[in-house]
Amino acid sequence: MTLDFNLKQKFANVTSKAAIAAYKYVGKNDKNSADKAAVDVMREELNKLDMKGKIVIGEGELDEAPMLFIGETLGTGNGSSLDIAVDPVEGTNFVAKNLPGGLSVLAIAEKGNLFNAPETYMEKIALGSDVPKGLLDLDNSIEDNIKKLANIKKKKISEIVACVLDRPRHNYIIDELNSMNVNIKLISDGDVSGALLVSEKRHNVDIYLGTGGGPEGVLAAAALDAYNCSFQGRFLFKEKKDQDRAKKMGIKDLTKKYDLSEIIKGDTIFCATGITDGDLLNGIRCSDNTFFTETLVTHKSSSISIIKNEITKT
Ligand code: FBP
Repeated sequence: MTLDFNLKQKFANVTSKAAIAAYKYVGKNDKNSADKAAVDVMREELNKLDMKGKIVIGEGELDEAPMLFIGETLGTGNGSSLDIAVDPVEGTNFVAKNLPGGLSVLAIAEKGNLFNAPETYMEKIALGSDVPKGLLDLDNSIEDNIKKLANIKKKKISEIVACVLDRPRHNYIIDELNSMNVNIKLISDGDVSGALLVSEKRHNVDIYLGTGGGPEGVLAAAALDAYNCSFQGRFLFKEKKDQDRAKKMGIKDLTKKYDLSEIIKGDTIFCATGITDGDLLNGIRCSDNTFFTETLVTHKSSSISIIKNEITKT
């Protein structure tokens, strides 16, 4: 089944309004209030839509998140059954500190087609559509992966650009890349955007690699699927409580590597609205009466576009 084309604008309105809610907290050094404002508005807007929606990736379990918790049902109850993944503010630090890259993000698919990702870390590799599927693997050494990538792209290793989240846990990756003379694009946060940099040549990123949030991995995979890119992820269940939760969610093999086709099935719509300016999108602009938003919308069965919305201030 393909998702109704009209849903693109409807869900782009949802992330636009959530982004505007968070925008009021840009530079206020208060990431929780920014997140809460976006969560509240996203929930309100999702509830207005004709659908039987269910959050499969949200702000946590019911006991830890009052809104948009995993399993929460949303919408009027009329219309299609949809699974929804949300990240009302992706890059809460960016918003709190008025730095580039804050986004409001969601993805939808037909019921059962979005991987129900636990709130845990995920090792990730993302590659562009010009690389054959299955070329690289999380279990290969970094050296092996980079050599294969350079070879297939007919580039020198020193011309390869790798995007990595700047975290101490990635020191071994960064050291290895440095020793090979690879160009590193280090990002301080925001690995949905980081992974999506492989999607278009203009971003000049050949590979995204490293460990970030599992939910962010599934969201990025939804968009990468529409771009026909590759993605591989493996959840890291280090603590006993995460392992127990994973088993409760039906994940039997806790060390399994998932390819994109196992994370995202069927048709999907992904929407990301810029809160602050970033690599992918401009952030919110405003005049006396109007907010102007930019939303990247990928619809696997139709198109990829940037939707510009004008929303009157209330
Ligand atoms: P938040 O917006 O929830 O703060 O997440 C930002 C982020 O950088 C994600 O993009 C990334 O997946 C995750 O945090 C990485 O987690 P950590 O900061 O714990 O390394």
